[in-house]
Amino acid sequence: MNSSASLPPEAELDAPVPPIHVAIIMDGNGRWAKKRMLNRIKGHEKGAKTVRTIVRASREYGISMLTLYAFSTENWQRSKIEVTALMTLLKHFLESEQKEMVDNNIRLNAIGQIERLPKNVQQALNRTMEATKHQNGMMLNLALSYGGRAEIVRMVQRIAKKVTGGVIDQEKITSDVISDHLYTKGLPDPELLIRTSGEMRISNFLLWQIAYTEIFITETLWPDFSEDEFIQILKEYQRRERRFGRVDI
Ligand code: IPE
Ligand code: IPE
Ligand code: MG
Repeated sequence: MNSSASLPPEAELDAPVPPIHVAIIMDGNGRWAKKRMLNRIKGHEKGAKTVRTIVRASREYGISMLTLYAFSTENWQRSKIEVTALMTLLKHFLESEQKEMVDNNIRLNAIGQIERLPKNVQQALNRTMEATKHQNGMMLNLALSYGGRAEIVRMVQRIAKKVTGGVIDQEKITSDVISDHLYTKGLPDPELLIRTSGEMRISNFLLWQIAYTEIFITETLWPDFSEDEFIQILKEYQRRERRFGRVDI
């Protein structure tokens, strides 16, 4: 018998134990626009509004870290018009949200090939990261020009260099050493990964870090993803977690 056995089922299911780190593959902006006979860019604009809603909801729910897949290494292959629009939207988001992040004690971090982003986007990113570096209520971690394989290649190169230079003994390469050479160094692995718009794939996101992550896929397109649905998924995660961890059934 565990100590929670006497609680009514509702109390147990609603127990506020949020995941520490939630990661989201924000997919479906293009399909949202297509369904409305709009340009794909309109879908990205509406998607940026959803980002604001979900960041705020995460902070209110008590999540410590939210990682959003905003642009993949593969997304550079999209049309120049779409890539430029996404970069412009990103820059506007960084500028318009800086105050909101400071006011809500949110620290901004970025993972990925930041050096590939246009200079003006890098500058906006650096300014917002600098302005929020002492905030400790939640970390918003944006995956920008991010690819899990590129991250692993970079990690191997960095470790190999240290082995060659005699800084690390090859026998001493452990999981922790590998984690410490990824973009996510020092960050906990996500307990929960959400993908919107129904695709049953990972699309090169956090390959190493999601080894034990619970995955939720919703058919909802990212621009339509709501705070309500997000909270439902968080509650469902809490139910799943508890079943998985139980030893007495
Ligand atoms: C996600 O929406 C946003 C990015 C990948 C930048 P998509 O643009 O992939 O939308 P779909 O998948 O075409 O609907
Ligand atoms: C994944 O979505 C990347 C981001 C959400 C940034 P994609 O739309 O690029 O992935 P695929 O093409 O469906 O695998
Ligand atoms: Mg997509």
